[in-house]
Amino acid sequence: MKTKDVINLYNQFVMPTYTRTPLVPVKGKGMKVVDLHGKEFLDFFPGWAVSGLGHCHPEVVSAVRNQLKKIIHIPNNYYILQQAKLAREIINNSFPGKVFFCNSGAEAIESAIKLARAFGRPDRFEIISMEKSFHGRTLGALALTGQKKYQQGFEPMPQGFKCVEFGNLEALKKAITLRTCAVIIEPIQGEGGINVAPEEYLKALKKLCREKNILLIFDEIQTSMGRTGKFFYYQHSGVVPDAMTLAKSLGGGMPIGALVATEKIADLLTPGTHASTFGGSPVVCAAGLAVFRAIKKEKLLKNAKEMGSYLFEKLNILKQKCDIIKEVKGLGLMIGVELTIEGKHIVEACFEKGLLINCTQGNILRLMPALNVKKKDIDKMIKILKDVLADAV
Ligand SMILES: Cc1ncc(COP(=O)(O)O)c(C=O)c1O
Repeated sequence: MKTKDVINLYNQFVMPTYTRTPLVPVKGKGMKVVDLHGKEFLDFFPGWAVSGLGHCHPEVVSAVRNQLKKIIHIPNNYYILQQAKLAREIINNSFPGKVFFCNSGAEAIESAIKLARAFGRPDRFEIISMEKSFHGRTLGALALTGQKKYQQGFEPMPQGFKCVEFGNLEALKKAITLRTCAVIIEPIQGEGGINVAPEEYLKALKKLCREKNILLIFDEIQTSMGRTGKFFYYQHSGVVPDAMTLAKSLGGGMPIGALVATEKIADLLTPGTHASTFGGSPVVCAAGLAVFRAIKKEKLLKNAKEMGSYLFEKLNILKQKCDIIKEVKGLGLMIGVELTIEGKHIVEACFEKGLLINCTQGNILRLMPALNVKKKDIDKMIKILKDVLADAV
C-alpha cells in the first residue's frame, strides 16, 4: 500500500473529523518516525504531546508486553494491582490525595466537573474557566473550553459554565457568584498558544479560591509528566491545586486519563457516582508506572530543563536573525514560537524537509519534543526551521 491508498481508505470509511497531514507513520523509535515508504522524520511534536518519552520507549514497551501476557483487562468492580500502584506513584510525586482513572483528557475533565459539582452540592454548580483554554471535545469539556470556534454548531452547551480572561484576576472576581464551585485553568495554555500563567496570578487565584471556598483545578494534561522540568507544572509555583487533570504522556503512548484530588475532596465521588469501564486498566497503568520509572532512572526532569534552556537559546538566536519570529515563549520543553505570518505553510515546509512540528492559533509554532531529546536533535531541528523561515521571507 502507498500513502495515497491509505488516504483513499480514509475517504471511504473514516469520518472526516480531522485535518490530516499526508503521512502514514508505521514505525517510531525515540525522536524518529518512519512512514510507509521508509522516509524518516524528526518528531518535535510526538503524539500531540502524548509520546513524552519519545516513540516506543523500551521501558514502556517491556512493561506493556509483560502485562499483556498476564491479563489485559480487569473490570473496576475488582481491585487492579497496577492501578493501585500508579495511583500511589502519582500521589507520592504530587500532593496527598487520591486518583480516579479514565482513558483520555476529556474524560479526566468530565470527572473534574463532576467532582466540582459534588463539592458544590446542593446550591453551587457553576465552573469558571479561561478564555483561549482548551479542555477537550466532549460536551462538558467543550462547555469549559474558552474558544467559541470549537462550540459552534453544537449548541446549546451544557449550563453552568463561564469564561474569563486568562491572567485577569479582577475579571474572575466579578464572575464569581454564590453559585460558583470551581475555577479551572491550564497553568500553561497549550492549544491557546503557549501562554504561561504568571506565578503571582496563580498565587492570587489560590488565595481568592480559598476565601470563597471554591475549588482550584489545574488542567495539567499537557504540562505534566516532566514537560516543564518538574513532574507537574504546579511544582514550579508552589501553588498546589485542589485537583488536577492528567492524560497525554502519563501512559507513554497508551490511552489514559486521571483526575487527582486532594484528601479533603477525594472521597466526594462515592460508589456509583462515577465510573469508566476501561479506566485504569492493568496494561495502561503498567505503562504509566514505566513512564515514572524511566523519568527517574534516566533523569529526564533534568534533561527537560537543560534541553529546554538550550532550545530557548537557539530559538532566540534564530529570532535575532529572522524578523518573522515575534516571540519565543513557554517553559522547559513546552515551547511556542510566535510568528508574524501564518504558520501553516511553515509546518508544511518543515514536513517536506522531514521535520514534524505543530502550529496553533494560526501563527504559533508549537514544539514539544520528547523529554530525552538531545542537543544534536535540537541542532538539526533548528537548521531545518532556519532554512524554512529563510525561504518564507
Ligand atoms: C489542556 C488539555 N486538556 C484537555 C485535552 C483533551 O484531551 P483528549 O484529547 O485526550 O480528550 C487536551 C487535548 O489536547 C488538552 O491539551
